[in-house]
Amino acid sequence: MEEAIQKMQAEALAAIDAAQDEDALERIRVTYMGKKSRLVALTKGIKDLDDAQKRVVGPIVQKAKQAIVQALTRKREELETARDAQAEWIDVTAPGTKVRRGHLHPLTLVQRDIENIFTTMGFAIVDGPEVETEFYNFDAVNVPKEHPARDMQDTFWIQTANNNARQVLRTHTTSVQVRYMQQHTPPFRIIIPGRVFRQEATDSTHEHTFHQFEALVVGDDVSVANFLDIAQSFFSAFFKKDIKVRLRPSYFPFVEPGFEFDINCTKCGGPENAKGCSACKGNGWLEIGGAGMVHQNVFVAAGYKRNRYQGFAWGFGLERLAMMKYKIDDIRHFHSGDVRVGAQFR
Ligand code: PHE
Repeated sequence: MEEAIQKMQAEALAAIDAAQDEDALERIRVTYMGKKSRLVALTKGIKDLDDAQKRVVGPIVQKAKQAIVQALTRKREELETARDAQAEWIDVTAPGTKVRRGHLHPLTLVQRDIENIFTTMGFAIVDGPEVETEFYNFDAVNVPKEHPARDMQDTFWIQTANNNARQVLRTHTTSVQVRYMQQHTPPFRIIIPGRVFRQEATDSTHEHTFHQFEALVVGDDVSVANFLDIAQSFFSAFFKKDIKVRLRPSYFPFVEPGFEFDINCTKCGGPENAKGCSACKGNGWLEIGGAGMVHQNVFVAAGYKRNRYQGFAWGFGLERLAMMKYKIDDIRHFHSGDVRVGAQFR
């Protein structure tokens, strides 16, 4: 019997050692230690032995049991550790998941560009409210009461209890001119970037919500020549090439004289090479915005003496500039909220 037990123990330990996984180990446990196991069968005969034999065999059986249980426990821990390690295993050579970087909106990029250029030219950056009084948006900048721009078609009116203090979503950044001038005495040079609103049908070049960029320079002897020089310096810095500015007579209530201003085409370079150019439709010039010498009525609305100062103002759409710089073909992309649009520009 002793021999049989020792043989069984050796077999069991060998089997445990060779077990490949936890299921196999469990089968081995049942085989050697379970109710119908060989150990149970072998120890059945013990009760028939005499006392002296029992004293010999008993401890051997106990030792065999202990040895097998210990071996099982150790092997189980070993297999568990191996399984955990497998689960935690990381292939450090595998390609990583790409981290997507955030980015600035193309309009923010353009605005920062413009602000940088103007601040180096000594301009201050000025801000104003988007919900504006009728006074600052229209009356103060000499827009006549019957002017079509005040009409329901262009302006978003805000419903107010008091009809004497009507409010609008500002239709241009020109609304900030008199606000600023009431608080400051010339000379000064400022730029006013900001969001403006117009009640318009949208298409690839029109949005109801867009951005403008106003410049206002006021002093004792500011002239159209100053405007031309500053505009040319600015656009050359912005497009990083030599840009010419062209003025065409036009009308805006808040300037006299007033102009529309164009720059030579950034794609073909100008009228000499414009034939067939898609950007300027062959004429060599791109329309940018409005400009002019500040109307004396605007100075008077701000509290300045008539004819005491001279100044120029200009305004243009930021989206249009961004579209030219980044070759974006539809203004509606800017507010589409599609991250794929912005992610292309850094
Ligand atoms: N406010 C004008 C517009 O919205 C632009 C402009 C600004 C024209 C300043 C002249 C001077 O179109």
